[in-house]
Amino acid sequence: MSPSTSPAKVSDEQRAREEELVELVVASFDGAPDERTRHLLQALVRHLHAYVREVRLTEAEWGAAIAFLTRVGHTTTESRQEFVLLSDVLGLSMQTVAVNNEAYRNATEATVFGPFFVDEAPQVEQGGDIAAGAPGEPAWVEGTVRDVDGNPLPGARIEVWEADEEGLYDVQHDDGRTYGRGRLVADDDGGYRFWGLFPTPYPIPDDGPVGDLLASTGRSPLRASHLHFMVSAPGCRTLVTHIFVRGDELLERDSVFGVKESLVHDWEHHPAGSPTPDGRDLGGRGWASTRFDVVLAPA
Ligand code: BEZ
Ligand code: FE
Repeated sequence: MSPSTSPAKVSDEQRAREEELVELVVASFDGAPDERTRHLLQALVRHLHAYVREVRLTEAEWGAAIAFLTRVGHTTTESRQEFVLLSDVLGLSMQTVAVNNEAYRNATEATVFGPFFVDEAPQVEQGGDIAAGAPGEPAWVEGTVRDVDGNPLPGARIEVWEADEEGLYDVQHDDGRTYGRGRLVADDDGGYRFWGLFPTPYPIPDDGPVGDLLASTGRSPLRASHLHFMVSAPGCRTLVTHIFVRGDELLERDSVFGVKESLVHDWEHHPAGSPTPDGRDLGGRGWASTRFDVVLAPA
């Protein structure tokens, strides 16, 4: 046990009182008819009490925590989920992703979902442009979707979304615009290709209590540059992931702990005027490219 998690040195009488309370509360859930609910609540009680006892939580600190959570609740609306953001910056979202996406052979790793997915994104043809006018450097992204045995998965659904070069998703603008997102269907060989934007870093929403928590603890709200993917196919575990950019200095300190080495990609930059893979005329602009071969685990 590390020093920071050692039980506090208290008298035998004090320890007995504290332990008696833990057991009393745990036992209060003994009659919960649903076994899973009972397990979740009893383990929660044990861990929360262990925390209070380990740090010797003061009543002022307990009050500050309640006030903070109250602000988190008041900041949460239909379009702003501050509790999920809190879970994200504490690494709880990523831990839940890890627990629920067990490593399986060569299957692609999962990462956080984030708040900016939209159900009804535009359908985009193979080779189409998901940027749809969003500002940023054009980027060609191509790859395949396969199962863990290497069989192509034709018809797999590929949903992609990303921020513009100013670090904003379309839904963060208040004019109802749609850009930087799209849905594709893998071709007969499991292949896909599209134009998007070279990803750039951006801050998670930091104008609420979670932003204050980060600022007061010297942490940055910035996320490493990334492009979101959600890939699904019948019989396979749906994959929610991102691809990152090798060399991005934020890879080591992503504010939501979403970076996995296996998801860090090499991107090539092609100078202005270079021919494009599909002959698209970019009006003399430079462009970037990468490849992302997705491997889905069985469901
Ligand atoms: C995102 O990548 O879009 C995101 C993830 C977690 C919190 C905020 C944003
Ligand atoms: Fe994102």
